[in-house]
Amino acid sequence: MTKSKKVFLNGVYLPIENANVSVMDRGFLFGDGIYEVIPVYHGNLFRFDSHLERLENSLNLTRIENPYSRYEWWEIMLPLIDNAKDQYIYFQVTRGAAEKRDHAFPKGADPTVFMMCNDIAPFNEKENGVKAISLEDNRWSACNIKAISLLGNILLRQQAVENDCAEALLVRDGYVTEGSASNVFVVIDDILITPPKSNFILPGITRDVILELALANNIPVSEDVISLDALKTASEIWFASSTREILPVVELDGVPVGNGKAGRLWHTMNELLQTYKTSSATSEK
Ligand code: PDD
Repeated sequence: MTKSKKVFLNGVYLPIENANVSVMDRGFLFGDGIYEVIPVYHGNLFRFDSHLERLENSLNLTRIENPYSRYEWWEIMLPLIDNAKDQYIYFQVTRGAAEKRDHAFPKGADPTVFMMCNDIAPFNEKENGVKAISLEDNRWSACNIKAISLLGNILLRQQAVENDCAEALLVRDGYVTEGSASNVFVVIDDILITPPKSNFILPGITRDVILELALANNIPVSEDVISLDALKTASEIWFASSTREILPVVELDGVPVGNGKAGRLWHTMNELLQTYKTSSATSEK
């Protein structure tokens, strides 16, 4: 018999099939909660403090109480991790279960905390690149909060998938924001460009790492707006996220990007990231 997956729910570890949440939970009724995704490379939580800082920020902005200290969060994660694999920790905090459905915050509800650890599925298309479609970014204007209410992102991703694309590249008022579940980088005139942090994008941890690696390796880089017209002149376009790392886009809206293959800078940055992952895992031990 295969062993069932162990998850963490409200202070206890239990088999996933026994992990139940009240139908009155505000996460279920309203999508009233926030989440984080932390990659784990061979047992090491990648950029743990950066992810926790973003969690704290999402909790502050939604006024959901943080039930644990950073050290307690770390301690909760460890028993879920299989050191032999590349995995990611998914965890979410909702405002908890209330007695009745009312939009305003309930009094006295305790946050619901759920955490699980999944294997990172190898993304085979990485070297070959993926197709993307540009879509109007019709989400709300608090995209810096990592909210579990992802309906906007889901509908956009689904539209991409139904158009045989791996990701949607979102454009708001004529300017690139991000992907439906990733940040965006482009290469124009040999300069690596990504939109600046704002309330219209999630401040991605992978994005930060790429910017740091570019600066440390003398790769010209800029945090700047990217118009739809400029996007069309890009020799490379990448999506960046914790679960897919850096994904080269080889076709946008049916038109090849650059020479239609993963670009030179993507190869360089991907290698830098792989080295960085290994070295940061070693130094954290
Ligand atoms: N999503 N922007 C959006 C809208 C995202 O959902 C994500 C990640 C990112 C990249 O952030 P990071 O580099 O910290 O993963 C940007 C995660 C992986 C998800 O929802 O599963």
